Amino acid sequence: MKLSLLPGSANRSLAQAIAAILGEPPARCDHELFPDGEQHIEILDSVRGRDVYVIQPTSPPVDPHLMELLLLGDAARRAGAGRITAVVPYFGYARQDRRAKGREPVTSRLVADLIQAAFDRVVALDVHTSSIEGLFRIPIEHLSAVPVLAEVARAARLPKSVIVAPDLGAVKLAERYAAILDLPIGVVRKRRLSGEQVTVSGIVGDVTGRAPIIVDDMISTGATIAAAIETLSAANCTSNIIVVATHGLFVGPAVERLRKSAANKIIVTDSVALPENVSLPVEVASVAPLLADAVGRLHRDQSLETLMGRS
Ligand code: R5P
Repeated sequence: MKLSLLPGSANRSLAQAIAAILGEPPARCDHELFPDGEQHIEILDSVRGRDVYVIQPTSPPVDPHLMELLLLGDAARRAGAGRITAVVPYFGYARQDRRAKGREPVTSRLVADLIQAAFDRVVALDVHTSSIEGLFRIPIEHLSAVPVLAEVARAARLPKSVIVAPDLGAVKLAERYAAILDLPIGVVRKRRLSGEQVTVSGIVGDVTGRAPIIVDDMISTGATIAAAIETLSAANCTSNIIVVATHGLFVGPAVERLRKSAANKIIVTDSVALPENVSLPVEVASVAPLLADAVGRLHRDQSLETLMGRS
C-alpha cells in the first residue's frame, strides 16, 4: 500500500512540516464553505488502495474542524482508500468524558463514535483524558510530547526549579516531567467554577524560594495558569516562572491574562496553529518530527512503543 497524506485546514503548517520530513507531497483537496455554513470536500488526487493519513487537530473552532476531519475520512473511504488513519494532534471535547452535573452528554464518547464511523485508526497526542482509549473500538495510538517539551524546559531550568501541577488532574503529568528533569513537585489545589473561571485554595509541597515550571496538557483561557502563577507568587516562589503545555489554544481572555501574569516563558508545541501575533513570550517546540516518525512507522507496520505517552 502506498502512503497518502491528506491535510485538513486546521493546521496546514504542521501538516506541511510532516510532509516535508516524510518527503511525501500531500494529496490535493478542495475545501469549500457553502453560504449556509455547510462544508464541502473533494479529494483531487487518487487515494484508491492507499494508506491514508488525514492530519487535522480538532482545535478551535472545534465543531467545523471536527466536521472537516469526518468529511475527509468519509471522502477517502468512498474514494477506495485501503486504510484511513486520523492524525489528531489536538483532540477537542476530551474534557467532557463524564457527566459531572446531571443531564449532560458524554461528548468525548460521542466524538469517538463519530470518528470511528469514518476512520480505521487514530493517532492522538497528549489527550486530556488518558482513558480516551476506552471510548474507541478502533486502535488509538496515544503519543506524548512530554519528552520533546521536557528537553526545551531543561535548557531553561534553574538549580532550584520545581515542577508544579496547576491542579490535581495534572499530577501524573508533573510526575513525568519531574522524573525526566530530576526535580521536586508542588501541586496547586484548583477548582473550576466555569469554562473561564477557576479558584485556588492552596499549594501542596515546598515551593518557597524555588523557580516554578508549571506543566499542563493545555492552555485554553489561561485561567488555570494565571491562578497558579498568582498563588505561587503569593507563596514566595522566585519570579522566574516557566509554563509548559502541549496544546496552546490561547482562546478568549488567555493572551490578556497571561500577559498580566508573571510568566517569563511559555513553552508549547505546534499541535494547534498559534493565533497570529500572540504577544506573549511563547517558545514553540515542533511535534512534526514526532508525528512524522509515528506515521512512517505505522505505514511500515513498525512498533510505536518508544513514542507512547504512558501515564
Ligand atoms: C484542566 O483540567 C486542564 O488540564 C487544563 O488545566 C485546563 O483545561 C486549562 O484551561 P484554562 O486555560 O481555560 O484554565
